[in-house]
Amino acid sequence: MDQDSWDALDHFFCEQLLPVDLALDAALESSAEAGLRSINVSPNQGRFLNLLAKIHGARRVLEIGTLGGYSAIWMARALPSSGTLVSLEIDLLNAEVARANLARAGVASIASVLVGPAIESLKGLIDKRAEPFDMVFIDADKKSYPDYLRLTLQLLRPGGIIVADNVARGGRVADPRNHEDDVVGLRQFLRMLASDTRLSTTAMQTVGSKGWDGFSLTRLSTE
Ligand code: SAH
Ligand code: DHB
Ligand code: MG
Repeated sequence: MDQDSWDALDHFFCEQLLPVDLALDAALESSAEAGLRSINVSPNQGRFLNLLAKIHGARRVLEIGTLGGYSAIWMARALPSSGTLVSLEIDLLNAEVARANLARAGVASIASVLVGPAIESLKGLIDKRAEPFDMVFIDADKKSYPDYLRLTLQLLRPGGIIVADNVARGGRVADPRNHEDDVVGLRQFLRMLASDTRLSTTAMQTVGSKGWDGFSLTRLSTE
């Protein structure tokens, strides 16, 4: 199997299963026009996040890494009108593109973007005793996932879930000879998940339009 086959099947699933959503299409178009990198979740992954939030009955979602707001729209679409999505983004241009995309998708009243380094924004949320989140999606710089996990655990309700994107990176995460910052960070992130007895975690490798990668899914116990 190769990238062309993965693309073809991902596209097939997309065509078969996903409704046309002009606001999601427009979010990708405006992101491309503004020169943002196209590293957003794929449409099928977006639906996966949307379904997880729905199945979990999430009311409050925290996202780390907004880009143009594509995954944020998918998750915001799963929330009740009284719900809240907070997304953290370091780059002001990305945040502005995302805000326009969230507004076009009709979710601006529940979804907001906090601009700044995510570690600072997370500390800010902790300091102001933000209401706990039901679900956190970690998708910013991979080297900082250990910090994001440590801080996220102070913002997640018991029974809450954490989804982290890009935990496989073409298999490099399992290669002990690889010492790239991102890979080292991801490996430490997985070790932290494994060693915290309050957490249950799985990691799934995926192939598709974004190559060979994967995500982890974690639940914080209620005890
Ligand atoms: N979740 C998005 C994709 C996010 S890409 C989607 O699927 O649509 C990763 C994003 O994280 C980029 O926009 C990047 O600017 C942002 N980022 C990188 N380092 C960051 C940091 N230290 N703090 C906050 N955001 C960061
Ligand atoms: C990259 C980042 C991502 O979050 C992703 O899903 C794919 C690629 C990157 O920085 O290369
Ligand atoms: Mg990602």
